[in-house]
Amino acid sequence: MVKLWNQEAADWRLELEIGGDSAPLSLHTGAEGRTLILCLGKDPSAETARRAAAKAVAAIRELGARTALLDVDPAARALGPGGLSALAQGAKLACYRQPAWKEREEKPFTLYFTGAQWLDVPAILAETDAVTRAVCFARDLTNRPVNLLTPAMLAQSMKEAAEPLGVEVQILDEYQTRALGMGAFHAVGDSAGHPPRLIVLRWKGGKEDAAPIALVGKGVCYDAGGYNLKSAAGLKTMRADMAGGAAVCAAVLALAENHIPVNVTAVVPAVENRISPDSMVPGDIVTSMSGKTIQINNTDAEGRLILADAITYAIQKEGASRVVDIATLTGACANALGHLTAGLVSNDDPLCAALLEAASRSGEQYWRFPTFPEYAKMIESPVADLSNQSSDGCGAITAGLFLGAFAGDVPWVHMDIAGTAWVDRARREYQTAGATGAGVTTLYQLCLGLAAEV
Ligand code: BES
Ligand code: MN
Ligand code: ZN
Repeated sequence: MVKLWNQEAADWRLELEIGGDSAPLSLHTGAEGRTLILCLGKDPSAETARRAAAKAVAAIRELGARTALLDVDPAARALGPGGLSALAQGAKLACYRQPAWKEREEKPFTLYFTGAQWLDVPAILAETDAVTRAVCFARDLTNRPVNLLTPAMLAQSMKEAAEPLGVEVQILDEYQTRALGMGAFHAVGDSAGHPPRLIVLRWKGGKEDAAPIALVGKGVCYDAGGYNLKSAAGLKTMRADMAGGAAVCAAVLALAENHIPVNVTAVVPAVENRISPDSMVPGDIVTSMSGKTIQINNTDAEGRLILADAITYAIQKEGASRVVDIATLTGACANALGHLTAGLVSNDDPLCAALLEAASRSGEQYWRFPTFPEYAKMIESPVADLSNQSSDGCGAITAGLFLGAFAGDVPWVHMDIAGTAWVDRARREYQTAGATGAGVTTLYQLCLGLAAEV
């Protein structure tokens, strides 16, 4: 664990170098023993600081360090409170280990901060710590094996984490969701022995009468593909198909812990996409909660089915004024943008701009896809209002537009984290192989920004 506080004590000293000739992110030892210099380069960003802190902490822990002292003055002067926060976050995430079900040695590590006395360092560190713990919570859930994380167990885990923080939690069972007419959700949810759940988390930090912003996260606890069964390679990482759900819950936890004055409702449709005697098959027609009919052309395009009903639920039942959905939705997005950039599809320029602005503060990368009218034609069906598979490629965009049909006129942004939620090896110094916690910090920053608006 990393403890972040103002205190003088250390095995190692970490020093920041800004400017100078050394390449950003390079590390070198100082003249005195046990001093490590972190080079942030000539034009550092908070993200450079986050990466450098992670790299440095990993390096000294490798050498057996249990404590280190970091003078944050230079980062605070160059980058403000965001730089300080990034250092703390990078350091803490560098110590993340995925959960294990065996005895193993824990190596405690404490990083002490000194300097930047003109800032309220303890307050900044406390806020950052809540956000970083939320990222670790999302990683833990996403890394958890499928047999230990059925939809009901996911719901229970979220409830246990959220309720003590003053978040209202409602878990709808399969009878309640059926009564609401969530036929698209059930097309997937009924494919497994473990029944589906609709998880609703309400953080009411804002004005009583202010409509909530909805964060809708894909909660496919396992995506086998259904009768359109995935390949052996494809099946391997599909426990991570609930990463969007984990992200929205984690963001709510961080908002609640930091008492952010905003109303946010997270909605997580939690299901497994498996094969059973009653599973959907290609050609089926299902009726969604909105009344729109959907032709199932591929049972592996399940995320958009459950999200369609969850978006309708968020708007109709929770009165959401804005909707942000986040999902490991398409292989196409991962192919197009890779492991460090997630895709966006949106019907609203200001909301999309707010999300990109939030990302500039969180250090995550997003790229907005175009939505030319031709793309919408690709998800038309001759026999239903929509098809769940594009007739002409463009998988990331068409999946997004499918969801947009359920948002209607409500400002909406879709985040496709299929490429960024899970990595076979770290692509950033603050990542480890497996779940990354993608989206958590950006969703937190987005809601923080919206809180400041009112
Ligand atoms: N969960 C997958 C998308 C995915 C693929 C996430 C790889 C992470 C890594 C999603 O449910 C899916 O199977 N999508 C299909 C859609 C297609 C059948 C229209 C895809 O992308 O192939
Ligand atoms: Mn699928
Ligand atoms: Zn999926």
